Amino acid sequence: MAIQPDPARTMAVDIRKRKGGEPIVALTSYHAHTAAILDRFVDFILVGDSLGMVMHGLKTTLPVTLEMMILQGQAVMRGSSRALVVVDLPFGSYEESPSHAFRSAVRVMKETGCGAVKVEGGRRMAETIRFLVDRGIPVMAHIGLTPQSVNTLGGFKVQGRDQAGAEAIFADAEAVSEAGAFAVVVEGVVETLAATITAAIPIPTIGIGASAACDGQILVLEDMLGLSPSVPKFVKRYGTLADHIASSVEAYAREVKARTFPEPANVYRPKA
Ligand code: KIV
Repeated sequence: MAIQPDPARTMAVDIRKRKGGEPIVALTSYHAHTAAILDRFVDFILVGDSLGMVMHGLKTTLPVTLEMMILQGQAVMRGSSRALVVVDLPFGSYEESPSHAFRSAVRVMKETGCGAVKVEGGRRMAETIRFLVDRGIPVMAHIGLTPQSVNTLGGFKVQGRDQAGAEAIFADAEAVSEAGAFAVVVEGVVETLAATITAAIPIPTIGIGASAACDGQILVLEDMLGLSPSVPKFVKRYGTLADHIASSVEAYAREVKARTFPEPANVYRPKA
């Protein structure tokens, strides 16, 4: 009996084929209920290691563990049925060697059921990307501003502003594409560089803080919903969720204190 992957679920190869076509829509999610809402609208959901900052209030993504990624990856897979789910490999779980990366990626894919993993790094990760892809693991790469390298980059800053920096990021894009990545997140680079990379490589570029010149876009869900207390300058807020939560909680607190908290009719009252 031939068993096919879930036909309803977008696969990495489907994203790969979208190069130069209809723009690819992506957002992060770390939990089942938001994943269920996004699922209708996005091509892929990233379980990003930004969950360390967004869910846990950490200052960087560095403390995030493989276990944290797996737990939230499972939640997102439960909540979604259509979008490709990509799970970040966290800092320290893949950089040491291709076989180290393979063991981590296999755990993530077996324990979550996700369709791909993402790794940060360009030329330095090319050998690892090739190793994973050759062994059946679809890999999304991430270049430019790579948050796991915040300490060597000297902060969360736009990358590739000068000629040498731009050439290095361009070489990173070519390297991950040649190594077999199915798509590449390009973060925090100027528009001209994003446009040059997008025109030059055969895989889709997914921009974040990298202008509209990419094949698709990704944002951190809580940033665009207006829930995150501070967001990068490039983020457009499509909602005001923090205000909505605060006013709802305020109304609830007011009613509880005034003893006007409405008891649902007839639910806990003895039957007459
Ligand atoms: O961790 C994350 O959410 C990411 C996106 C910002 C691309 O890597």
